[in-house]
Amino acid sequence: MKRARSSEIFLGGRARARRRLAPLLAAAAFAYLVFVSVKLSGLGSWEDSAAIPRPETAASRGELLQRDALERAPRGRRAAGGGAAVTGYGRITGEILRRHEALGGGSRRRWGLRGNFSELERMAAEAWALGARAWEEASAFSGDVDAIVSGDGAAVECPASLELGGGGEGETAAFLPCGLAVGSAVTVVATPREAVAEYVEALERSGSGNGTVMVAQFAVELRGLRASEGEDPPRILHLNPRLRGDWSRRPVLEMNTCFRMQWGKAQRCDGTPSKDDDHVDGFPKCEKWERRDMADSKETKTSSWFNRFIGRAKKPEMTWPYPFLEGKMFVLTIQAGVEGYHINVGGRHVASFPHRMGFTLEDATGLAVTGGIDVHSVYATSLPKAHPSFSLQNVLEMSDKWKARPVPEEPIQLFIGILSATNHFAERMAIRKTWMQFPAIQLGNVVARFFVALSHRKEINAALKKEAEYFGDVVILPFIDRYELVVLKTVAICQYGVQNVTAEYIMKCDDDTFVRLDVVLQQVSTFNRTLPLYLGNLNLLHRPLRSGKWAVTFEEWPELVYPPYANGPGYVISINIARDIVSRHAIQSLRLFKMEDVSMGMWVEDYNTTTITAPVQYIHSWKFCQYGCVDNYFTAHYQSPRQMLCLWDKLSLGRAQCCNYR
Ligand SMILES: *[C@@H]1O[C@H](CO)[C@@H](O)[C@H](O)[C@H]1NC(C)=O
Ligand SMILES: *[C@@H]1O[C@H](CO)[C@@H](O)[C@H](O)[C@H]1NC(C)=O
Ligand SMILES: *[C@@H]1O[C@H](CO)[C@@H](O)[C@H](O)[C@H]1NC(C)=O
Ligand SMILES: *[C@@H]1O[C@H](CO)[C@@H](O)[C@H](O)[C@H]1NC(C)=O
Ligand SMILES: *[C@@H]1O[C@H](CO)[C@@H](O)[C@H](O)[C@H]1NC(C)=O
Repeated sequence: MKRARSSEIFLGGRARARRRLAPLLAAAAFAYLVFVSVKLSGLGSWEDSAAIPRPETAASRGELLQRDALERAPRGRRAAGGGAAVTGYGRITGEILRRHEALGGGSRRRWGLRGNFSELERMAAEAWALGARAWEEASAFSGDVDAIVSGDGAAVECPASLELGGGGEGETAAFLPCGLAVGSAVTVVATPREAVAEYVEALERSGSGNGTVMVAQFAVELRGLRASEGEDPPRILHLNPRLRGDWSRRPVLEMNTCFRMQWGKAQRCDGTPSKDDDHVDGFPKCEKWERRDMADSKETKTSSWFNRFIGRAKKPEMTWPYPFLEGKMFVLTIQAGVEGYHINVGGRHVASFPHRMGFTLEDATGLAVTGGIDVHSVYATSLPKAHPSFSLQNVLEMSDKWKARPVPEEPIQLFIGILSATNHFAERMAIRKTWMQFPAIQLGNVVARFFVALSHRKEINAALKKEAEYFGDVVILPFIDRYELVVLKTVAICQYGVQNVTAEYIMKCDDDTFVRLDVVLQQVSTFNRTLPLYLGNLNLLHRPLRSGKWAVTFEEWPELVYPPYANGPGYVISINIARDIVSRHAIQSLRLFKMEDVSMGMWVEDYNTTTITAPVQYIHSWKFCQYGCVDNYFTAHYQSPRQMLCLWDKLSLGRAQCCNYR
């Protein structure tokens, strides 16, 4: 997982407050992780399973969970004939706290803990307690799931355009119920405010000045209001002009996305034009503008004049300054294109940002303008009139063809755990219709399952339950989904791979990862089967970000660097490593860190240093793509359902090429 610093400076104003809070939060966060590790270890209910298989009707399952909430962790049973696949994950506060008490000081010593537990204990326990309740509600839910899921928006007719007045402090925001379509445009007429002094802690620490910088910046964002459940809405486009620059002291335009609360890799334009082949719908990603630090040297002027005079120069070139000025009104237009968003200021193209992150234009249902800016008006035009109605029936193709085979008794080569979110129905369906159709899965040599936690909305959970029962390929972890708990899903994948199937290797990927299963299997088979394997896009000597929104505190990660770790969207481990993880987890000695891929790197490193038999084969390949797709990829990331289908079509024509459009 990588976190760009996109909003770091943007949030600089709060740094002072953060500094005061930091030790407290750090201690709290650390305590929380320790606690999670304790609690998670309690999860090993698959082992001591004395479960009596019972008929799993919808009603009985809800009841089962409720009763177990009073006794101990509930148990599911092995899915039969593509039936339900809910497993023993119910946690209850009392049980957790009891186990925790029993563990007492030991864990404190182990992790060098300080600070006040109880607030965070409550928070972690909450996810399970709420989850148990949510599951109960979902099981009891008797309404028409399809009608409710499609509910807000399907029947609504949306306006073709929208106008907002400006004025007032704070954020200017609008709701675009039907999202955007190709050709839709958002126009903002506004004036950037004068720069204000802000305090940046990192700056003071680095010894350059007293930490005060003059900051003039604002952001225009397209947000995915539908996509979020209990977390910040994803930023589908975050456009952040920094008029006074940032560390470079040059004005920049920064563009980025933030998905599942993670910033992607920022695209920065600083006046240097992008290369000729770096185009979006035919527009360069960054246009050139005049830069005070290099444009005005006499020499360049003379030589350019000379070149033109003797007829060797290209056509005369017009250069423009940076498009925003403090106190000067501008007209900014963001237009949605086929391949990306195009940003024009004063009628002139300044930048283009390719679509990313598995979002479709319809997802961009929120528009916000924030920061140091006086907004005069905002217009959205050429909007789609109707939402491409999100109906479960349309999204989920209820056909026997897409049902999963039951888990085979005999050993398999690979188990794939796919991390997914409750409302990602379309993402899961796209995977079923594409790479889950590889012969290896259809013939039972490879098993793939989605790992999903619960949402706050009972109808969404009910829909998920219906989906899981029908397709038989979803493992529901009944806690309320949160970003910080993703690592629990990774542990669950290892448990499943060890306890529910007999797999030689385990692969972890995300529901926006497209896996070329045939080449991944072929890759895996080239390595010595008797030696442990860790295969993926490896990062060496990566350092934790110590500041900014995604900062990792010293309490969470005291070491200077991360262990070698494979990027989260697609990696493979051999079963001996997974077994080690599961058994250390069962005896509560598995250290957990909120970033699941770094955690895996840490576990593999521990295994490598403690195992006496053989060292782990660390195998790196950049073809397990972290950012998007490259031709001849092994796995491609950030793929929308439409892109998945496109990739699959291309593969069936024998071409492993990317689909970089929506
Ligand atoms: C996995 O195995 C455990 C114990 O062997 C069992 O309790 C659980 O229900 C199984 N889960 C699934 C999804 O089959
Ligand atoms: C821990 O926090 C709780 C409430 O947040 C408070 O009541 C308690 O006194 C705190 N304990 C310590 C030791 O600081
Ligand atoms: C920090 O330094 C700047 C000049 O570099 C000065 O204008 C400002 O007043 C100083 N701020 C503080 C809080 O000392
Ligand atoms: C695999 O590794 C083992 C242990 O190092 C070694 O004995 C064996 O010869 C290797 N096999 C192959 C096919 O290289
Ligand atoms: C794994 O262990 C071997 C032998 O102990 C060691 O040489 C190697 O450097 C380790 N690899 C990593 C990535 O730590």
